[in-house]
Amino acid sequence: MRKVRLWLAGWAAVVMAGLLASPALAQEKPKTLYARLGGYDAIAAVTDDFFGRMEKDPQLSRFFKHLSSDSKRRARQLTVDLLCHMTGGPCFYIGRDMKTSHQGMGITPADWDLSVKYLKETLNHFKVPAKEQEEVLKAIEATRKDIVEASHK
Ligand code: HEM
Repeated sequence: MRKVRLWLAGWAAVVMAGLLASPALAQEKPKTLYARLGGYDAIAAVTDDFFGRMEKDPQLSRFFKHLSSDSKRRARQLTVDLLCHMTGGPCFYIGRDMKTSHQGMGITPADWDLSVKYLKETLNHFKVPAKEQEEVLKAIEATRKDIVEASHK
């Protein structure tokens, strides 16, 4: 009887191990872009570097030079939160939508292209892998229509 019990316990262990190893049952969720980028601090660092590059550029600096330090901090924080939200992170974005917050600034297609160039530089600076870079750039590209003003060439 003891032998039978041992035999059954052995089989139960083998079956359990097999079930746990099965990807369908383990329910491994694919990692969000947020997690693959390295989470909140990584996104904050990317935002700071990106803003720094834009502010230093002679063509783009016109958008930032009139802002108080507090307004810059506010825009920076809201951008971090928006990126966190857009990439599947745990943040709730409480800022204005992209059209409302950029309308009237006169951001041209050339300004946009420059900002994308700086974003690529930032992503390369942090050695973000090609796949994640592509996903970030795609998400940002989706905001272009709301940020760039067609009336400005
Ligand atoms: C050429 C490109 C861009 C320029 C020159 C630009 C410039 C600015 C400026 C000057 C502000 C501050 C407005 C204020 O305080 O009144 C701002 C706000 C903001 N920007 Fe941009 N921006 C650009 C692209 C983007 C992109 C690609 C994103 C993210 C997808 C973004 C996200 C934000 C957010 C979240 C705010 C704060 C919104 C709010 O006040 O509720 N911006 N931007």
